[in-house]
Amino acid sequence: MERLPEHVPQELVTGFSLYSSPEMVPTPMGDPQAAAAKALLAGPPIVYTPLATRDGVGAWVITRAEDQRRILQDGVTFSSFRNTFSAAIGESWPLIPLEIDPPDHSAWRSLLNPLLSPRRVVALEGQVRARAVELIEGIKARGTECDVMTDFAFPFAVNIFLQFLGIPDDRLMEFVGWANDMLHSTPEARTAAAHKVLGFLDDLADLRRREPTDDFMTFVLDADIFGRKMTPHEVRAMSILLFIGGLDTVAAAIGFDLYHLARFPADQSDLRRNPEKILLAAEEFLRAYATITPLRTVTADVEVNGVLMKKGDIVSCPSMVANRDPMEFPNPEKIDLQREDNRHTAFAYGPHRCLGSHLARREIVVGLEEFLARIPAFRIKPGTTPMTFGGYVFGVENLILDWSA
Ligand code: HEM
Repeated sequence: MERLPEHVPQELVTGFSLYSSPEMVPTPMGDPQAAAAKALLAGPPIVYTPLATRDGVGAWVITRAEDQRRILQDGVTFSSFRNTFSAAIGESWPLIPLEIDPPDHSAWRSLLNPLLSPRRVVALEGQVRARAVELIEGIKARGTECDVMTDFAFPFAVNIFLQFLGIPDDRLMEFVGWANDMLHSTPEARTAAAHKVLGFLDDLADLRRREPTDDFMTFVLDADIFGRKMTPHEVRAMSILLFIGGLDTVAAAIGFDLYHLARFPADQSDLRRNPEKILLAAEEFLRAYATITPLRTVTADVEVNGVLMKKGDIVSCPSMVANRDPMEFPNPEKIDLQREDNRHTAFAYGPHRCLGSHLARREIVVGLEEFLARIPAFRIKPGTTPMTFGGYVFGVENLILDWSA
């Protein structure tokens, strides 16, 4: 662990870590969002933890929604420039647009926004629903139980990306394997899988250069950025982000939602009887079970809510904590599936606000609609214990549901 920087007052140091505290490591029947909010909202608005990131580097933790908004909206003082993904494979380039700062970032967003606009998502909905139905009917045909994460949530998220790229379904399991290795495996397996996916994307780009169609990759290759075409390197830095950005995030959201509905049967039967309520319920799930903690690096000394941050400091904005800030949400601990005016921060704020949020919402709503319409009343399979965890993306490790009764 690094030494505490001199400008960090001792009274702001917390021992809580989103990575290693109890309930953040895999925990039976845990509730990591509630645990993180409880630990961090009890203290000062801004604290410093020596164990704030996966690699054990210290960071400021911004716990209140108002301060998070200020930081996430200011991409000049709080930089997103990093190379987390490429460093893991021994290279050094930023993911596009996640790790790009202003002013270039806005050029990338203008280019990419139409690809995942609400209108585009409406056009994709038929395919999203068909994938959900196919996976759920497969589960039903196999019996009266399933592991939500491996049988539904994760393959569903991977499948949508393949649809998006126009890749045939018969490669689904191969991609699921790569995605799993890339996100949930040993460092060696992660690196090998990342190379396979990047190699696949490079080959697809080569193919589309020779044989253009009307798919995502052809759009990217045709597009102009800064008055020129994209370099092959930029094409992969962007395509790989669209792949990983929508995997664990969507899978975790579906996992936490079904975990909630298995634990609270009254909510489950309410949504079964009134599927029109799912749209609003999905927003409350996104608030209460938010999963991501955006990280920024301070580019110039700055004061936030009375705390001095120095150039080079890391700042983290856990969305699941801001989403339970009582200044922002009345009765934040109550999970009220029909909560109105739900200005949650699950997709962050400001210039880097999730590019895939419209698609993610559709995937979650359609996934829940089809699951509840096709699978009878379910519970956590007796004798099994779901494990939940914290980290950069909070998640559910296993969730075995049973509807044999
Ligand atoms: C429930 C699901 C999802 C959640 C909770 C989520 C959350 C987020 C958050 C919090 C950010 C901001 C990160 C930061 O500022 O450092 C982000 C950015 C991003 N997300 Fe999502 N995401 C989800 C699904 C998706 C999907 C399905 C896609 C792609 C199809 C996607 C693509 C992206 C991209 C490309 C960015 C970078 C945007 C930028 O830097 O301008 N996300 N997401």
